[in-house]
Amino acid sequence: MQIHETAFVVSTYRSYHEDVSKDTYAKLWNNPGTDALIPDILKRVSNHEAMLHSLRNRFFYEKMNSFFDKNNGGTLINFGSGFSMYQFSFDDKVSTIEIDKKDIIDYKKEKIDHWTKEGKLPQRDIQYTAIDFNKNTAEEIVETLRPMIKKEPTFILIEGVFFFLDRKTTNKLFQVFKGIQNPGDVVGAVTYLPEIEKTKVYERLLNYFDSNNDTNDSFSHQTIPHSYFESIDGYVIQENTDEFELSKIYAPNNKINTKNEILNETMYLIEKI
Ligand SMILES: C[S@@+](CC[C@H](N)C(=O)[O-])C[C@H]1O[C@@H](n2cnc3c(N)ncnc32)[C@H](O)[C@@H]1O
Repeated sequence: MQIHETAFVVSTYRSYHEDVSKDTYAKLWNNPGTDALIPDILKRVSNHEAMLHSLRNRFFYEKMNSFFDKNNGGTLINFGSGFSMYQFSFDDKVSTIEIDKKDIIDYKKEKIDHWTKEGKLPQRDIQYTAIDFNKNTAEEIVETLRPMIKKEPTFILIEGVFFFLDRKTTNKLFQVFKGIQNPGDVVGAVTYLPEIEKTKVYERLLNYFDSNNDTNDSFSHQTIPHSYFESIDGYVIQENTDEFELSKIYAPNNKINTKNEILNETMYLIEKI
């Protein structure tokens, strides 16, 4: 499986549980190729994956919505944005900067422009920039992004991306965040904690990626400890939770008994000081 296919997969997951994810636009990206991949993933890895990704979306939807409400708008800067569609659920005082690899960005821009013309999507202020986080330096990324930020405050989202990056690139991205944000601005981030490495379900996830490996698209399998987020220079943790806890709020009838049986991701909101 190539990394860009993972963006289609998580978008399709969100479309399965619109009531939970609150993403009513995700289904626009559904396609037969992705539909064909998903049953095998749910069977071989975990059948909770679609719900967990919907819960993750719901958490950030709620948090960003109240952040932009409170501040009368601002800019969402989405790192590794894939096919996420938050901007169409917020009002038009929110601008968005979408950052991803070139193939995703080109494809997304073309489709969004087309669907907006057709009236399937509301008009929003969206800028797109193609950046490979492994290749560009922190300074280059900051220089690209700074002039694009026209409305403050900013909410940076990095969701479903750290797993694919190594620690060096992760550190670089936090330097970038510090370089473009002001006090009071927020980063929303998602990670697996290292504890998950002992679980059977995580082993199944790695087996799945290994057996569907595309040699041109190798990636790290990064987990990040809580202590990393506690010691990010220039930031404090505002809030953290995980999908297991979110399931109790937004999907109480879902049968998840313990954290260890699911690919439980942890969400952090950290604030620039
Ligand atoms: C699992 S998808 C998540 C997409 C989106 N954030 C979401 O939650 O729906 C991972 C995304 O990270 C992007 N990505 C992975 N490695 C990257 C890199 N080195 N530079 C830029 N984007 C990267 C992929 O292209 C893909 O869109």
